[in-house]
Formats: sequence, structure tokens, C-alpha cells
Amino acid sequence: MKKTIKDYDLKGKKVIIRCDFNVPIEGGVIKDDNRIRQSLKTIRYARKMGAKVILLSHLGRVKTEEDKEKYTLRPVAEALSKLLRKKVIFINKTRGKEVEETIKNMKEKDVILLENTRFEDLEKQKESKNDKRLGKYWASLGDIYINDAFGTIHRSHASNLGIAKHLKSGVGFLVEKEIKELEKLTKNPKKPYTIILGGSKVSDKINLLKNLSKKADYILIGGGMAFTFLNAAGFNIGSSLCEKEEIPFCKQLLEDYPDKIILPIDIITAKEIKQNVKTKNRFVNEIEEDEIGLDIGKKTLEVFKQYIDDSKTIFWNGPMGYFEIKDFSKGTKGLCEVIANSKAYKIIGGGDTARAVTEMGYEKKVNHISTGGGASLTFLEGVKLKALDSINEK
Ligand code: 3PG
Repeated sequence: MKKTIKDYDLKGKKVIIRCDFNVPIEGGVIKDDNRIRQSLKTIRYARKMGAKVILLSHLGRVKTEEDKEKYTLRPVAEALSKLLRKKVIFINKTRGKEVEETIKNMKEKDVILLENTRFEDLEKQKESKNDKRLGKYWASLGDIYINDAFGTIHRSHASNLGIAKHLKSGVGFLVEKEIKELEKLTKNPKKPYTIILGGSKVSDKINLLKNLSKKADYILIGGGMAFTFLNAAGFNIGSSLCEKEEIPFCKQLLEDYPDKIILPIDIITAKEIKQNVKTKNRFVNEIEEDEIGLDIGKKTLEVFKQYIDDSKTIFWNGPMGYFEIKDFSKGTKGLCEVIANSKAYKIIGGGDTARAVTEMGYEKKVNHISTGGGASLTFLEGVKLKALDSINEK
């Protein structure tokens, strides 16, 4: 078991908390502050215990000098100040004299946020490639290190793996909660256990499919990735998305688990990907050459519903269709409804799925929505997470 923030006496200590404030920001406006809200419990606790709180996070992928304006954490500092009702001191640097002086002058309960850790990537990708000196430097700024950035737990960065090597460490409340929830899917899930996978690419989910197909009773496949499977099963998929190089993998999986993998029986097609085009609900053996499959059909939703109603544990990752366009969002919305009404333990993973569930108003009807897209999938793949491993054991 990992140490948590509660295992340390924080009074008067400089506590570095790595958060995942990688939130969508457009023109300086935060479009979804969920990740910021989810980090509040740990920050509030640290303050209550009298810590001097130093926050670190990345934002976006910083590749050029110009990216700096787009990916500054300043809007996050402002949002956090409002949510905490306490001025969060923002330092627009990742290291140097100003950072060190400000930290030296901190009082108990003060909160500071340093600039985007990935600004360091402009120099030999120091943050993303876990530059040893950078991790050691950041560690030198604090007394205790808390990793509460679940969304980044699958990355080996200087600001997570690097720092943890040099300080007493623990996880925050968010990481603790995420692991506890996701372990419900990996350690003796209540059966029947059904996984619903969608999204565009099979290639993104190969390891997940390999690992979870052993554990799950049923795997329902929708979204763009269903067409590579349908093609592997011998159907003509017209102009739908297809990853030709993944067909052998899909064929093998269908052969290994013929009763477990459930593919769509009908789909919504159109000739163009835009709103207000003519759509057709086609059986999968009726797709024409110039048609693109863009959502699961009504009959498929009924079939999926039967499996879902029968399940005790459900994990859903990936939308069922091109849900950003209303005409192709009915499968995803319908699935939200079916899952919401099921009595199973329901966990949602992945950025797009979390967004769909939240935007469609179902976030309160599921048991857990992971804040990590790649992170939750990597966890479920059973891959070793070095940033988590590096945290002290109890
Ligand atoms: C995420 O949004 O999945 C995390 O913040 C990690 O971001 P990354 O994929 O850019 O490493």
C-alpha cells in the first residue's frame, strides 16, 4: 500500500503537490474545470494541516516558444484562487531565483503554483524525458512530495517520477480514490463483468483488449473501431474507418472469444461527416461502398442493453459514434441512458467518454468517472506505472 498525504505531519512543511491541471482552455477561458475541482480535497487538506503548498502541473504539449502563451497555467491559478477562496500565488517560471525566494518567504497555508512544467520541454524535453537534474532541483524546493496527478500517472516525468526519488512521498486523495475504483475492475470484479469499448482506433486499445478479454465476460464494441472488427468478421464496411494492419489482431480475438466479443448488428451511415446529411439505419451486411458508418444503430443498442442489464460490473471507454455531430450522437446518448439505468457498478474511463457522459447530463448516474484518459487505460492494461511505483510504501 502506498503512503498517502495523511501519513505525514505537514505542519510548517513545504509540500510539493503534483496535480493534473491539464484542462481545456480556449482564449484564456477554462472550458472544463473538473480536474481542478477534483484536486481541491488534497490542497484543502494540506492547508488545513498548516502546510506551505507548492503546486506543479503540466498543461498541453509544449513544442515551440509560441506554445507558451497558449499553455500558461495563469488561468488555472485564477480559477483555483476562486475555488479555494484564497489567493494562489502564480509564478510564471518553472525554476530560478524568483521561485526560490517566493518559496523561502511562504507562510503556513500559502499556496503557490509554478508555471507549466512542460515549458521545460523546450530544452531537450527535460520534463517529459525525466531529466535527473530537473527532478532533483524541484525536489530541493520542498520537504514532502505528494502525487495527486492521476491523469499523468502513466507518464515518467521529472515532476512525478523524478521528484519522488529525492523526497518522502505519498499519494493525494484523488490518486488514492482513482486506484481504489479502478482496482474494482482488475481485482475480482463482480460478475457478469461487461466492458464497452468505442472510439476510433483499435490500435489504441490492443493491450487493453488483450488484458481485459481474460477478465471480462462480455466486450461490446462500438464506435469507429467496430468497423475494423466488422471487416475482420467478413463484412463490407464501405467507406468507414478501417485499420487494415489491425485486422489480423481482430480476427484472432474474434476466434479466441467468439461468445465474448459482441459487435454491432446495425449502424447509422451517411455519405458525409456533417450535420443534417441524409442518414440510414443499415444492417451490417447492407453497407454500401460510398457509405460511412458513424454511429451504432437502434437494434445494436437493444442488444447492448440486454448485456448491460444482466451485468454487475461495467466499464465503458470510448463513444459509440461521431457524437460531436448531433445526428451521430444517438448511440452514445442511448448508451448513457442504458448504463445510467443499470444496477451494475459503473465506471467510466477516458477523456471523450467522460466528456460525453458529463455533457449529456449523466455524470451523477454512474459510480466513478476517471479523471485520467490514457492513465486509466494504461492502469487497466496492467502496465507498470513507474510514477506510482516510485511513491513510498506504508
Ligand atoms: C491527459 O490529459 O491524459 C494527461 O494530462 C496526460 O497528458 P499527455 O497525454 O499530454 O501526457
